[in-house]
Amino acid sequence: MRVISVYYVVFLVVFSGLISYYNGVNASLLDDDKEALLDFVNKVPHLHVLNWSESTLICSNWTGITCNADLTRVIAVRLPAVGFNGEIPGDTISRLSALEILSLRENGISGRFPSDFGRLKNLSMLYLQFNSLSGPLPDDFSAWENLSVLNLSNNRFNGSIPKSISSLSLLSALDLSNNSISGEVPDLGLPNLQVLNLSNNNLTGIVPKSLQRFPRSAFVGNDVGFVNSSVEQSDVSPVPGVRPKPRNWWRQAWFLAIVIGCGVLGIVAFGFLFFACCLRRKDDDGFTGKFPKGSMSPEKTISGSQDSKNRLVFFEGCNYAFDLEDLLRASAEVLGKGTFGMSYKAILEDANVVVVKRLKEVSAGKREFEQQMELIGSIRHENAVALRAYYYSRDEKLMVNDHCSQGSISAMLHNQRGEDRIPLDWETRLRIAIGAARGITHIHSVNGGKFVHGNIRSSNIFLNSQKYGSVSDFGLATVMSPLAPPISRAAGYRAPEVTDTRKATQASDVYSFGVFLLELLTGKSPVHATGGDELVHLVRWVHSVVREEWTAEVFDLEILRYAHVEEEMVEMLQVALTCVARVPEQRPKMPDLLKMIEDVRQSLAEAHPENTTATSSPPH
Ligand SMILES: *[C@@H]1O[C@H](CO)[C@@H](O)[C@H](O)[C@H]1NC(C)=O
Repeated sequence: MRVISVYYVVFLVVFSGLISYYNGVNASLLDDDKEALLDFVNKVPHLHVLNWSESTLICSNWTGITCNADLTRVIAVRLPAVGFNGEIPGDTISRLSALEILSLRENGISGRFPSDFGRLKNLSMLYLQFNSLSGPLPDDFSAWENLSVLNLSNNRFNGSIPKSISSLSLLSALDLSNNSISGEVPDLGLPNLQVLNLSNNNLTGIVPKSLQRFPRSAFVGNDVGFVNSSVEQSDVSPVPGVRPKPRNWWRQAWFLAIVIGCGVLGIVAFGFLFFACCLRRKDDDGFTGKFPKGSMSPEKTISGSQDSKNRLVFFEGCNYAFDLEDLLRASAEVLGKGTFGMSYKAILEDANVVVVKRLKEVSAGKREFEQQMELIGSIRHENAVALRAYYYSRDEKLMVNDHCSQGSISAMLHNQRGEDRIPLDWETRLRIAIGAARGITHIHSVNGGKFVHGNIRSSNIFLNSQKYGSVSDFGLATVMSPLAPPISRAAGYRAPEVTDTRKATQASDVYSFGVFLLELLTGKSPVHATGGDELVHLVRWVHSVVREEWTAEVFDLEILRYAHVEEEMVEMLQVALTCVARVPEQRPKMPDLLKMIEDVRQSLAEAHPENTTATSSPPH
């Protein structure tokens, strides 16, 4: 007995010793990180004062610093436009061995690419664009196997593109534009690469096949050609839409004339802007406008008050690191015109994809707008598309949402009818209905149960990662000018009472959702043409068909082909028809409605337990 307790004591002593040793190690690692950063900042002159001090907590107080979850290491350093000047001293930043993200963009950093950065083995994102770095790119990239974003654009790098970049198997964005890099473009492979920009360098030769999938604008301002796949290797066609480098003297003269002309214009315009900026910034924090880009990055808003009036406001839990300029610079694609304005899909330089909505006709003032955005941004639910950030200025109101890659349910239902379309089976439609109902039910519970979606329609409903419906575009009606008479499709979703009151309510949401259910069941648009040119409202059409007892006629042929689903569909039809009751008080409330919809699947499962998978089997 005594022997055991002696062992026990020895064990305890050793164990607690180990623990305190371990803690000591951790504390000292964070201290090492701290020393490395202080070393760096003390050696490099900078315009802005950083609030880094020995005596404050590095993880919670230091500007631009992010620690890991247990606050033992520094994992991100973001110091854009701090006004750093000079070289990055060796053995400073490179001592941050746990570093994953480093952003020193838009500074005046000069010298060569720091040779000791190879020690940053965990680096996944490196942003050094808009500095004055020169010399060749590092020869050996193999140390950075986690690197996913590399932006070295707008520096003075020369030499060639190192072949070893092709070893970065996780690389998703590579921007080397606006440098003086020469030589041929190596065949990089890089299957995960989504963003590439090599424009405005001195590259020559033929762009390898593996990189020809990128837009030609990724290569402009070089002397490179593209091979036509059907033509011999020697037949090189110049980049279409891209002016080859001028060769004749008169071309050069023209070119010079244009350049000088643009230059003069540019200087005038820049001078004007500069002047305007200085006037506006006078009462700011002494930032003299040396860096022409009045960046509004989230990093900067931490540190000071500048631009606090007009900046992108991010919500908690947003992992994106971008600012307004990045948004404006991102390659954007028009997604469509919604009820409240245009939507764009923006691919950021780190390959994140977001949806930017430009709101037109916002009637709310700044405060009211912000309050509503805060409310919308607080909604986090797996069946509601999250708002990540917003922007408000006099001329521009933006909302930034997650992007759903599969497109809206409207597109899935109505695009490409006929041809080689993938049918939307009943199983999927059921999950869409259940998901959307869950999302709306949650939304209706927000703000003390007073929140209204206000714009339910199939183009605002998407698939989430579990392939259930997910709603977006909620809560906007209150900040927008009173709804104008709706155009075309949108009209079909509008509850009859809203036409007069112009005010969306939870009951009118239920009506719109009912129309959406009918759309899922019939495959028809809420307002559609029948036979002649006459436009028919879906609700009226369904009523008329059902009244004549042709119930089966209403359903989308695409789902009717599947066995054993008709009962479910008839049940769902009844649920939908209660939603589109004329009198608002007769419509169900969302929580009850959700239960009814969930029961549709439930009841089938009980009635035909052996057929639960029949819904997705091929047509009989
Ligand atoms: C590459 O950068 C240039 C200049 O910065 C820009 O004009 C071009 O659109 C960019 N191309 C791509 C594919 O991002």
